[in-house]
Amino acid sequence: MDRLLIEGGRPLFGRVAVSGAKNAALPIMAATLLVDGPVRLERVPQLGDVATMEALLAQLGVTLHRPTDDSLELLNTDTSRRRAAYRLVRRMRASVCVLGPLVARRGRGVVPLPGGCRLGDRPIDLHLRGLVALGAEIRIDRGLIVATARRLRGARIHLEGPRGPTVTGTANLLCAASLARGVTLLSGAASEPEIVDLGRFLNACGARIAGLGTREIEIQGVSQLGGACWQLIPDRIEAATLLLAGLITRGVVTVDRCVPSDLAAVLEALATLGAGVRTGPDFVTVDGRFAQRPGSFAAAPHPGLPTDVQPQLAACLAAIPGRSAIQDTVFPERFGHVAELNRFGAQLCRRGDTTLIEGTHALEAAPVVAPDLRAGASLVLAGLAARGATVVHKVLHVDRGYERFAEKLAALGASVERRGQMATAWSPSPRLPG
Ligand code: EPU
Repeated sequence: MDRLLIEGGRPLFGRVAVSGAKNAALPIMAATLLVDGPVRLERVPQLGDVATMEALLAQLGVTLHRPTDDSLELLNTDTSRRRAAYRLVRRMRASVCVLGPLVARRGRGVVPLPGGCRLGDRPIDLHLRGLVALGAEIRIDRGLIVATARRLRGARIHLEGPRGPTVTGTANLLCAASLARGVTLLSGAASEPEIVDLGRFLNACGARIAGLGTREIEIQGVSQLGGACWQLIPDRIEAATLLLAGLITRGVVTVDRCVPSDLAAVLEALATLGAGVRTGPDFVTVDGRFAQRPGSFAAAPHPGLPTDVQPQLAACLAAIPGRSAIQDTVFPERFGHVAELNRFGAQLCRRGDTTLIEGTHALEAAPVVAPDLRAGASLVLAGLAARGATVVHKVLHVDRGYERFAEKLAALGASVERRGQMATAWSPSPRLPG
C-alpha cells in the first residue's frame, strides 16, 4: 500500500524550490488541442494529474514527448479523435478542460460527465451554458456530454455562479472563444494566476485576449492558432503548503522560484498567526519560531485565500493553542481532513461551511488516511508537527498534485519515508513526428 511514514516533531529548516503549477499545466495542456503546430511547455511538473492529462491527450490523437524531465512537447497528429475515454476522465475532474478545445477546433467533443467528488457536487452548468452561448449544440446522452458546432461565434457570457467565478469554466471558454468568429466578452470570469497563464499561452499561440487577471475578459476570435514555447508559472499552492510546513514545525523555510505577489493572501494569513514573513523577487521566507496565535480565515476566489490551502491551514490552526475558525466559501463541503486531523488529538468540528478549531501544542502521531489531495497534504503537515510516528495511508492522492513532496520535505530536515508505488508516470513517445 502507498503510504508515508513520518517521524514528527522536528522543525524544518532550509530552502526549497517549487515546481510548475499543476492547475496551469492541466488547462494549458488541454488547450494544445486548439493549436496547429508543435507546442513546447517548460517547467511541467511530473505528478499524477499531469500523467492523466498526458494519457488523455494521447488518447485524443496528440503525440507527446518529454525531451527533459520538466519539459513536454505536444503535437496534434490525429484530429479525427473527439471522444474522451471514461477510464481517464473518471480519474480527474480537470479532464473537462478538453471539451472547449475539442468543440472549437474539431467541431465535436464527447466527454463523460465528470460527476461529483469529495469536495462536493461540483456542477459544470456554467461551462455548458457558455459553450451554448457560443453556438455549440449540447446534449447529455447516457452520461456523456456531446457538444457539436460548425464554427463557434463570439458572445457575451456571464460566468459567475453562486460560489463565485468558475476556474476551469473560464479556461474552457477562453479556449473555445479564441477560435470563435467575432468578439466574446466574459464577465464574472476567474482571475486566478493559472487562468492568466493560460490566456498568455494562448496569446503566444496567436490568440487575441485582453483583460486577463480581471473579471472582464475580451477575446477577439482568430481562425487558427500556431505552435509556441511556454514556461508554466510556479505552483502557488505547493509554495503555500511548504511555507505552512515551516510554520507548523516552528522552523524557518525559504521557498524559492515562486511569485510572492500571487501568495499575498497566504502571506497575510501567516503574518496574522504570528510568523515572520520576508519576501524577495522570487522567494518567500517564513519564520515559525515566534509565538503563534489563533485566527479566523475565509477561503474565497482569487485574490482571496485559496480554497486549495484551506485544509493545510486548518492543520496549522490545530497546532496553535486557542480558538480558530476557517470558512470555505468556494467549496462549502471541503472537510475531508477534519475527522482525520482529530486523530492527532486536535479538536476540529464542522459548522456549516466553517471548521471550528480548538488548537493544541501537543499533537500526537497517529495512523491516518488521505481522503483527497489537499486533505492529504494537511495530514502530512500535522504528521510533521506531531510527536511520534505517523503513517499517512493512500498518499497516492498527494502524488496527484505535489511533485517529489516527500523528497522536498526530507531536504528541509523532515524524517519522512515513502513506501509503496508512486503514481505512475505516463510514458511519452520517444520523439515528435516530422
Ligand atoms: N461551480 C458551479 N457551476 C459550474 C462550475 C463551478 O456552480 O459550472 C461552483 C463549484 O461547485 C464551486 C465553485 O463554483 O463551488 C468553484 O468551482 P470551480 O469551477 O472554480 O472549480 P474547478 O475549476 O473545478 C479549480 C481547481 C481546483 C480549485 C478550484 C477553486 C483546477 C484543475 N482545479 O477547480 O483545484 O480548488 O478551481 O479554486 O484548476 C486542487 O488543485 O486541489 C483543486 C481542487
